[in-house]
Amino acid sequence: MEQRFEEIHQKHAWQPFTQMKLAHMPYKIDRAEGVYLYEGDRAIIDAVGSWWVNLFGHCNPRINDAVIQQLNTLEHAMYAGMTHEPALMLSEALSRQSGDALPRVFFSDNGSTAVEIALKMAFQYYRNAGQTEKCEFVALKDGYHGDTIGTMSVGTRSVFHKLYEPLLFDVNHVASPADEFDFASGSVKTEACEAALKDLEAMFQAKGDRICGFILEPLIQGAGGMKFYSPEYLKGARKLCDQYNVFLIADEVFVGTGRLGSYFAFEQAGVWPDLIALSKGLSGGYFPFAATLATEKVYQGFYSDDRIHTLFHGHSMTGNPPGCVASLVSLQIFEEMQQNGIVAELEQWHRKLLINLMEGPAGKHVSNCRYIGSVAALDVNLDSGYTGNFAPQMLAKSIEKGALIRPLANTVYLTPPLIIEEEQLDTVYEILESSLKEIVGGV
Ligand SMILES: Cc1ncc(COP(=O)(O)O)c(C=O)c1O
Repeated sequence: MEQRFEEIHQKHAWQPFTQMKLAHMPYKIDRAEGVYLYEGDRAIIDAVGSWWVNLFGHCNPRINDAVIQQLNTLEHAMYAGMTHEPALMLSEALSRQSGDALPRVFFSDNGSTAVEIALKMAFQYYRNAGQTEKCEFVALKDGYHGDTIGTMSVGTRSVFHKLYEPLLFDVNHVASPADEFDFASGSVKTEACEAALKDLEAMFQAKGDRICGFILEPLIQGAGGMKFYSPEYLKGARKLCDQYNVFLIADEVFVGTGRLGSYFAFEQAGVWPDLIALSKGLSGGYFPFAATLATEKVYQGFYSDDRIHTLFHGHSMTGNPPGCVASLVSLQIFEEMQQNGIVAELEQWHRKLLINLMEGPAGKHVSNCRYIGSVAALDVNLDSGYTGNFAPQMLAKSIEKGALIRPLANTVYLTPPLIIEEEQLDTVYEILESSLKEIVGGV
């Protein structure tokens, strides 16, 4: 980095999830296009979609044009007592994606807030109904839902979040259904799923009358280690939530908006949750923008002549018009991609390239290779936790070689933009294999 920028960074920057004393100087990204980030003239393939947000490529001309046009028309207006066309059109489009099963759309700014809002909706629904005893949440072990106090509470108490434990509220954590991936059939095994459903049932039997909501990340527990599980769990959870009057809350911040091939991950189970939190790829990764979708039943619990039944939540930038427009165009692009089978094709490229990796010299160093939609992951047979050396080594090596790969502990994952081309993905896997070779050695 140029000296002046380096000085400013040393003097003024404080970056997220970064121990500034130990971190190397960050790469200064000057521009981006398609799957590439550019440090000066050096191209780096964004194999993680910039913290899982970018789905349709950087500086996508269609999203850019729509956003620029919107900026010249209406950049923002408060979204209470006023509305605007982009918010209306996006609300309708999102509802349509759920077949109008979740027709009510509440906007906010990021994944954590979208989840917090869903939690508040589930909680307040029962307050409004006078059932104040239904006030606790159930969540999956190994889940991650964000970094605010509420989302840390429902998340697993990880290395990072344990520190804040005195601030967090009590949550009932149940067994994760995550299981090994059966590569031959291309699906996740279901033993853990069956056991986890029993655990959930036991929890509801013990205290279902106290539970207002059950939150999970459908199909993949992302930050908890890209742990995959079977859609059968979602079907079973839906039944149990119906039986015990518990709202099923889908945190689709990572898995939603097309990443797994369907717009909502939940679609793959053939059932719907009561609440869905979306962010990250919602706006194509362009804006801090989020939405919480709710069923009409949830909404009706707030619809009242009594103002105290109002959902008391709002952010200044809610319903930001350029964010709405970027989301609308993203949705259109996804629909076209879906018609053309683009994510299904990307899934097959992952499968083929994972097979090459497993059958090659690096194969003996990796396990539980898995893929679904645009996401691929594998565990490196190393004892390196979230604060270990493997992840920073892989990040540095891969960037040096021209791809951004940022493991979670010893789990390497790839979440490239959906527009990545086959040769570009080949290059990512080559870089992954050669970086592994240099780090793990002897492969
Ligand atoms: C499943 C899930 N929920 C919520 C969040 C929080 O989103 P944000 O970082 O936008 O607050 C994340 C972020 O990684 C996530 O993966």
